[in-house]
This record gives sequence, structure tokens and C-alpha cells, in this order.
Amino acid sequence: MSDNDASPKPVILTGAQPTGRLHLGNYLGAVRNWNAMQDDYTCFFFISNQHAITLPKVPAELRQNTYLCLAQYMACGLDPEKSTLFAQSHVIGHNELAWVLSCICPLGQLERMTQFKDKAKKQISVNSGLLFYPVLMAADILLYNANVVPVGEDQKQHLELTRDLAEKFNSTFSPTFNVPEAYIGKAGARVMSLQNPTTKMSKSDPNKLGTVDLIDSADVVRKKIMSAVTDSEGSVRVDFANKPGISNLISIFAAVTGKSAQEIEDEFAGKGYGDFKKCVADAVIATLDPVRERYERLIKDRAFLDETLKKGAEVAQRVAFKTLSKVYRKVGFPEKIR
Ligand code: TYM
Repeated sequence: MSDNDASPKPVILTGAQPTGRLHLGNYLGAVRNWNAMQDDYTCFFFISNQHAITLPKVPAELRQNTYLCLAQYMACGLDPEKSTLFAQSHVIGHNELAWVLSCICPLGQLERMTQFKDKAKKQISVNSGLLFYPVLMAADILLYNANVVPVGEDQKQHLELTRDLAEKFNSTFSPTFNVPEAYIGKAGARVMSLQNPTTKMSKSDPNKLGTVDLIDSADVVRKKIMSAVTDSEGSVRVDFANKPGISNLISIFAAVTGKSAQEIEDEFAGKGYGDFKKCVADAVIATLDPVRERYERLIKDRAFLDETLKKGAEVAQRVAFKTLSKVYRKVGFPEKIR
């Protein structure tokens, strides 16, 4: 260890559900930011396959999707040499800690979660895992004593619950957990559907034209962006209330080019939506093309993906056991004699 490494780096923990294909919202709102943090933080990036079963899944697809998710993480630049990449189901401790946290978590706080209410509305019968989901998410974060959790805006409320639970545990027992901060990037924190720009871009959108997948071909990306819903005014300017479609495209263009909304408005003053959409499509394709190419190589190398998950789980497990035994001691469970 060099002198520079003497003080430990702050810890990041974050992840995504393995739903097959990550989309442009996941990339701009989340994975791209994670990528940039790898040199400055001790990073744990995981695949939250246990969260995924809160909604019905086909087992063979879920199994395969864990690999697809890992390959997409790495195609975006997450590097197993720098960061710990692992599958949630490979590490014992997430559910154990979630149980302890659930015993200090008021039921009413879970019932008020916006994502729970939204998802529950779409179900015929609501399983208790869907309600419990944010407690498992808090456990994911606290198990690694994360300082920072980089997420898109939709996860903000879950982070607030995590902070509440950390503080409650610390004050009920004794200081144990860092109270983690959410990191929400400036650009791309909330990418909206291209077809229904008042709802967020989502893997579960039934209208496939609404979501640009990370691994869509250039032709498909172009088709989706060119058919994005706009308005009849014809001017490229930000107005989320009255022009959500164009405002969303401006945000996407800003996020992939690094330009400000004002620069984009000036650049396209007097030009039509067709010209603007073409430039947005070109910029998104230029961003995603190299990601798709890397993904296509990685997904063929199953042995490498398995080895990455194995190594990641070993590192994560060591940290998880350490935290869990501390928590068990604090709540009053006797030490297991080995
Ligand atoms: P998930 O799989 O829905 O999304 C993964 C990440 O992508 C972000 N995101 C978006 N950002 C911008 N615009 C969008 N349209 C958009 N859609 C998704 C999300 O905010 C997220 O950062 N519950 C989490 C997974 C999870 C987790 C955790 C995350 C489980 N445990 C602990 C952080 C820490 C989820 O379902 O993300």
C-alpha cells in the first residue's frame, strides 16, 4: 500500500434489476455515473436479482438475465479489476440484514412508498415482497456501509428510507452504519418514455418504441428517436409542462453531448423537429454503438462472466459477514461458536 492509499476510499454501493436489457435511462441516469466513480471510491456494483422476483419472472429468463446485466455493466465500463461486481443471490447477508431492519421499520412508511403504490396498482394480487422491497434495498446498501449511492431520481424515496433506518438502528443500538447520501447526476437523472414523455423510460413499458435499449442496433435507435412524440409548436425549447416530448429529447441530447439546454436551443433555433431528432439519433448512436459492440463480445464469454461473479461474491461476502456479525451482536444474538 502506498502513502496515498493510507486513508480508505469512501464506499459506493448500487445496482440494477436484471430485466434483460438495460435502457438509455439506466445508462444516463445511473451506470454512466458509476463508471466515472470507479477510481475514487471502493465500489460494489451488484445485480439485484432478489428484487426482481417481486414481480413474476420466468426462472430460465431471470437466470440468463443476470449474465446479460453483468455483460452490459462491463460493456458500459464497469471494471472487475477496479470494482466488485456480484449477484445479490450469491451473497448471504442481504436478507438477514433486511429482516433485522424490517423489525425497526414502520409499516406505514412502506405503504407510502410511491413505487410500491404504482406497482401495486398494476397487480391483481399484491405480494408482500413488493411492500418489503425498500427494506431489502436498505439492507443492500447498509451491509456494505456505503457512503454514497448513485441512482436515478426514481430511487430517491428508497434512499430516504435507508437513511431513516440507518439512523434508527444507530440510535436504538449504537453507531453502526454510515448514513448514506444519494448521488443523483445532473444530466439524465430522469429520462422519460419517447412515446409517453410524462412517464419515465422503463423496461416494462408495453410500447417498445418508448424505450431505447442499450443494445439496440443503430437502425432501431434511429427509428425510435425519429418516431418520438413531440408537439405541434415546431420550436426546439425546454418546457416540461407543455412540451414534454421535445424537453425530454433536449435532456437526452444534453446528457450525451455535454451541451447545456441553452446551447441546444440556440443551435436549433429556426430548425425543424426532423433536423433536431436526426442529430439526437446520431449522438445517441455514437454513444451506444461501442457499448453494444463490447456487449456482443462479452456475452459470448460465459466462463469469464462466471469467474467475475465468483470473485465478486467472495469479496462481497467477506464484507457482508463482517457487518452481519456486528449487527447480530448489537441486537443481542449470541455469537456462533465455530
Ligand atoms: P432499476 O433496475 O429500476 O434501475 C437501475 C438504475 O437506473 C435508474 N433509472 C433511471 N434513471 C433515469 N431515467 C430513467 N428513466 C431511469 N430508470 C431507471 C434507477 O434510478 C437506478 O439507479 N431498486 C433498484 C435496484 C436496487 C438498488 C439497491 C439500487 C436494489 N437495491 C441498492 C441502489 C442501491 C432498481 O430497481 O433499479
